[in-house]
Amino acid sequence: MAEKFLINGGKKLSGTISVNGAKNSALKILAALVLSNEKCTINNFPFIGDTLDALEILKNLGANYEIDKEKKVVVIDPSSINKSHLDALLVRRLRSSILFAGPMLVRFGEVQMSHPGGCVIGKRPIDMFLDGFEKLGAKIEFNDEGFKLKIKDKKLKGAKIFFSQITVTGTEEMMMTAVLSEGKTILQNCATEPEIAVLADYLNKCGAKIKGAGTSTIEIDGVEKISGSNFYVMPDRIEAGTFVIMGLITNSEIRIENCVPEHLGAVIPILESAGAKFEIGENYIITRPSKLKAISITTHEYPGFATDLQSPYTLLMTQVDGQCIVHESIFEGRLFFADQLVTMGANITMCDPHRIVINGPTKLIGKKLTSPDLRAGITMVLAGMIAKGSTTIENIFQIDRGYEKIEERLQNLGADIQRI
Ligand code: EPZ
Repeated sequence: MAEKFLINGGKKLSGTISVNGAKNSALKILAALVLSNEKCTINNFPFIGDTLDALEILKNLGANYEIDKEKKVVVIDPSSINKSHLDALLVRRLRSSILFAGPMLVRFGEVQMSHPGGCVIGKRPIDMFLDGFEKLGAKIEFNDEGFKLKIKDKKLKGAKIFFSQITVTGTEEMMMTAVLSEGKTILQNCATEPEIAVLADYLNKCGAKIKGAGTSTIEIDGVEKISGSNFYVMPDRIEAGTFVIMGLITNSEIRIENCVPEHLGAVIPILESAGAKFEIGENYIITRPSKLKAISITTHEYPGFATDLQSPYTLLMTQVDGQCIVHESIFEGRLFFADQLVTMGANITMCDPHRIVINGPTKLIGKKLTSPDLRAGITMVLAGMIAKGSTTIENIFQIDRGYEKIEERLQNLGADIQRI
């Protein structure tokens, strides 16, 4: 019987919640370490669905690793990786498994994998990845199991790659893959998410020569080999932003600890323009009960309003005075969760797959909901926390993909949530 969350709404929250290591940083280091034959020690590791799936992929490839959940440490030895074929089932479970393609191609001269597939938020094409690999000197053969990449000469050659649109994992993967290529690679129109500069710092610590990570142009001078080192997973800015919105939507004073406020980019200034009051310190944010008004947003690459925080923000806007538009400019399928909020009583009109109009405030009534993806899933949890009566949420493995022990952490704040 699949697990569900049962939530009784209306509880005020109080206390402190600590932010975990960032899923979208940990996933990248797990791919990057395939480039080396030396151990990588990862601290502040988030033990969540996606990162455990990525460890499964590494184990399937032959890597050895030790886990210490208490200390949140994972030590991985990539030297025993002996397979250049990514398991199709594991690849389909983890869309970001595309990240392993480049490092595997560099390590073995070839790699076979199935298309990672899309998900509910969008088709998730990989055209910019394949274009980048070709520019670096790889040949692509499509076959019935997916595709095979092969290096034409003995090594990849540095190239100039201009991303036709900003891609976070595309930027990270071409940056990693160029590290051991011959000569200089220039990446233009790069994403500037904080996780990218952190990944570059790690690779440089291991002997890579990367300049400009965190800006829209990154230069990589190829080197012969890189070592392993220690990596500390930075706080998850999406968890932090989710908890900030949770504090506001429950009209509570909660302290969000172990976060990096400036990694929230435009989210804080936009919430402040809606009337939110915060106390912001070096590594914490305290939310204060605030009277909010509706403010329209457009999601945007960093440092704009993060698309991963669009669904909690949409819920927040159903609870405030006024009308606003939420424009999800990045993914074509990331607004369909709104119909579940409408069944609870929200007043949301979908104009097209990228835009909704929200009129607030509306009272929400507890309902039976399902979690379409991890970010809309946590939004259903927040909706249940403020709805009248009880709410059940199915498909909660989606939420466990990105939020570790979420019900325990919310219970500690006073939320009435059970995993059944
Ligand atoms: C990363 O996904 C994150 N995932 C996503 O977080 C996040 O929503 C997204 O960046 C945007 O910030 C990880 O870091 C593992 P993109 P990514 O490539 O890199 C299109 C979460 O909830 N595109 O920046 O896959 C694509 O369809 C996840 O933690 C192409 O067209 O996103 C999208 O419309 C969800 N062709 C746009 O670019 C390509 O070859 C941006 O996607 C690649 C992408």
